[in-house]
Amino acid sequence: MAGTLDKVVDDYRLRLGASEYVPIVIGGMGVDISTADLALQACRLGGIGHLSDAMSLFVADQTLGSRFTKAKTSRHAATKDDLDKSTVKFLSEELAEAQRRLVEATMSAKHGDGAIFINVMEKLTMGAPTETLRVRMTAALDGGIDGITLSAGLHTHSLSLIEDHPRFRDVKLGIIVSSVRALKIFLRSAKRAGRLPDYVVVEGPLAGGHLGFGDDWAEYDLAEIVAEVLQLLGNESLDIPVIPAGGIFTGTDAVEFLATGAAAVQVATRFTVSEEAGLPMRAKQQYFAANEADVYVSNVSPTGYPLRLLTTSPCLGSNVKPQCEPFGYALNTKGECGYLDAYAATPVDESGKKLPVTDKICLCYHFSKKNCYTCGHYVYRLKDTTRQLADGSYQLLSAEHIFRDYQFSRDHEIALPPERLVVSKGR
Ligand SMILES: Cc1cc2nc3c(=O)[nH]c(=O)nc-3n(C[C@H](O)[C@H](O)[C@H](O)COP(=O)(O)O)c2cc1C
Repeated sequence: MAGTLDKVVDDYRLRLGASEYVPIVIGGMGVDISTADLALQACRLGGIGHLSDAMSLFVADQTLGSRFTKAKTSRHAATKDDLDKSTVKFLSEELAEAQRRLVEATMSAKHGDGAIFINVMEKLTMGAPTETLRVRMTAALDGGIDGITLSAGLHTHSLSLIEDHPRFRDVKLGIIVSSVRALKIFLRSAKRAGRLPDYVVVEGPLAGGHLGFGDDWAEYDLAEIVAEVLQLLGNESLDIPVIPAGGIFTGTDAVEFLATGAAAVQVATRFTVSEEAGLPMRAKQQYFAANEADVYVSNVSPTGYPLRLLTTSPCLGSNVKPQCEPFGYALNTKGECGYLDAYAATPVDESGKKLPVTDKICLCYHFSKKNCYTCGHYVYRLKDTTRQLADGSYQLLSAEHIFRDYQFSRDHEIALPPERLVVSKGR
C-alpha cells in the first residue's frame, strides 16, 4: 500500500484510556499455548499479551501443581464408562480458585509498560455456561488481570455477569467479532450494561483456532470487515480502538492496517514457534515444516465452529473414550457434546475395538495432550522466519525476536534469528 512502506509499527501507539502501548497484541491461544511466559514477554516489551482461560483447572494443575483434575475425575468416577454425562459438573469454588491463582501468579511476575489480558470464550460451556463464565471472569478480576477479551460468542449477557464487581469500570474490556452484525449486537448489550468496550478485535477468516465464520469463510476479507467496523463506529461517534487479527504476518502487514485506522494488531501464529509458547517441540517442528496443502479448515470441533488445523494433527481419526470426567469443558447444560454423539455412532471392529471417530474430536483430551495443531492460515510461512539446522529441524525463536520483528520490520522483511550454536530443546 502506497505511503505505508516507509513506516514501521513502532511509529504508532495503542491508547486504551490513559495507557499507551506498542500496538502489538499477542492473542489468546488455548490450551496454554499463549503461556504466562509468552504474555509476560509481550508485556515487558510494551505490548499486550493474553492468557487463555481454556481448561484453567487443568492448566493450573500443570503449571502450579494443584490437583483439580484428579479431584474432579474421582468425584465423577461413576460415569466414566457411560455416555450419559449429564451429572458431570464443575465446582464453582475450584474453578474460581484455579483461575484466580493462574492470573495472580502471572500478574505478580509482571514487568514493563505493557499489559496482560485474558481471553475468555463463551463457547467454553463447561456444563453450566452462564455460571462458569461468571466465575471465570470474576476470578480473573479478583486475580488482578489488566483486561478481559471476550471471544467465541456474541456475549450478549457477559457484561451483566460482572457489573457488580468493584473492578468492572477500571478493567479493560474488549470483544472479538468477525462481522459488523456481531458487533452491533454486542454494542446493544453493552449500552444496556452502561459499559462500552474499551477495544474491539476484528478477527478475519485467516486466523488460528476456531473461526467466527461458516463454511463460506473463504469469501470474507479482513480488511473489508475492518473498514465496515470503522465505519459503523464512526457513524455512531464511538471512539473505540479497532484491532484487526488473522493473517497479519509481517510488520508491514500490520502497518497497512495501522495506516488505515486500526489502533493495533492482534497476532498469534508467528508466536506458536517461540520458545515461550506452550506447544511441545514435536508440534513446533510440525508448524515450521507445514506446507500450504497441510492446512485446512475442519468441522471436527464439537463446539460447532470451524477449526483451522494441520492435517498432521495427531487428534484426527482418534478413537479415545470421551474424557468428560477429568475435563468436560465442552459439555452443554444437558451433558451433551458433539464428540459423545460421534463416538456413540462409530462402530467397533470384529475384535470389539472402536474404529476411528472421523467426524469430531474429543477437544478436551486432545487439547490437553497438545495433539490439535490449530494454526492460522499462514503457518506454512513460518519456515521463512527462522534457520533450518543441520539435522533438518528448525531453530526456535524467542518471543522477543518475533515481537521486535513485527515492531521494526519494513517492506515485509522478516529478520532471521541470530544463529545458535546449541540446538534449543524447547518445551
Ligand atoms: C494455536 C492457536 C490457538 C488459538 N486459540 C484461541 C483461543 O483459545 N481463543 C481465541 O479467541 N482465539 C484463539 N486463537 C486466535 C488468536 O488469538 C488470534 O486472534 C489469531 O490467530 C490471529 O491470527 P494469526 O494467527 O494469523 O496471527 C488461536 C490461534 C492460534 C494460532
